[in-house]
Amino acid sequence: MSHATTTVDRPRGDVLIGAAAAAGFAPSILNTQPWRWRLEPGRLQLFAERSRQLTVTDPQGRQLMISCGAALHHARTALAAAGWTAHVTRLPDTRQPDLLATLTVADPIAATEVAGRLARAIPARHTDRRPVSDQPLPAASVDAIAAAARAHSRLHIFTPDQALALASAAGRAAAVQADDPRVRAELAHWTGTAAPPGAGLPAEVLPEHPAQTTVPGRDFGRGGTLPIGTGHDKTAVYALLFGDADEPANWLRTGEALSAAWLTATTLGVSVVPLSHVIEVLPARLTLRRLINGLGSPHLVLRLGVADPEHPGYVHTPRLAATPTTDSSAE
Ligand SMILES: Cc1cc2nc3c(=O)[nH]c(=O)nc-3n(C[C@H](O)[C@H](O)[C@H](O)COP(=O)(O)O)c2cc1C
Repeated sequence: MSHATTTVDRPRGDVLIGAAAAAGFAPSILNTQPWRWRLEPGRLQLFAERSRQLTVTDPQGRQLMISCGAALHHARTALAAAGWTAHVTRLPDTRQPDLLATLTVADPIAATEVAGRLARAIPARHTDRRPVSDQPLPAASVDAIAAAARAHSRLHIFTPDQALALASAAGRAAAVQADDPRVRAELAHWTGTAAPPGAGLPAEVLPEHPAQTTVPGRDFGRGGTLPIGTGHDKTAVYALLFGDADEPANWLRTGEALSAAWLTATTLGVSVVPLSHVIEVLPARLTLRRLINGLGSPHLVLRLGVADPEHPGYVHTPRLAATPTTDSSAE
């Protein structure tokens, strides 16, 4: 049964500030949080924050745009749960390529139970880099996560054979990056004390050593303090978020799909780990493109699985302040 409530009495500015705060919890490449929000009467503008773009591993800004798309979807989810519809205009001004979207509050709506559940998943969602548990992923959960993603972009679930090809591409991509001193320096920046306070990855969320999984995760170049046990990824399901093209507009949509899929997964107790190193290295990306028969451009790989219940405690990755700027505040 759906319990509908409206919160029409809340001033729109407060609601928009709340939406920007919720967007602050969004996942982002190396926790760079490469976005900023500007508050205007009745609307929010989302900008790419290029000062936090990964210039070595993400020179095109693909992972940056996906991260910003996730933030946009988080904001919309928070608005829906607060009882508001919003009109979204993506990339509204060709003269301002870093203005990614405008989110205008429209009409009050009945906030549904589903919207509330997704909004409650926002602060709970996190990246759990431990191996998944031995518990198989229910097919109904995979279907629900895929449907959530496909409402925004395209998603392919790899067959077990394709997952082996993915494993080999991911292994090669990890080796290429480990050999590149510029990549190592960029990773060291975002996993060390040089990262801006509230951004980057603390040791607590990085595995203490590489897990014995078929598909290797990103090599962060340093061990963390996250105990990972002896688990594997035998029960994991791997998926690919992809788009019609390899352009900013497609990447933004993929980020929205990532958020929709991940929030849905969180409500179902399913862990999601994005794997982007296999996208960042061109030959590996081309392998993925062949796996989907050239039907689109690969944007992000996802590992889905039931989280290992043996270590329920988890440290959340910190965040930057998520206050939007206004005309009167410094930009
Ligand atoms: C576009 C994108 C790419 C990502 N790539 C990886 C990755 O390759 N490996 C990984 O362990 N996490 C990856 N992540 C997860 C981020 O590191 C994570 O979202 C961020 O550190 C914030 O932590 P949280 O998700 O626990 O809130 C990625 C996230 C996004 C949005």
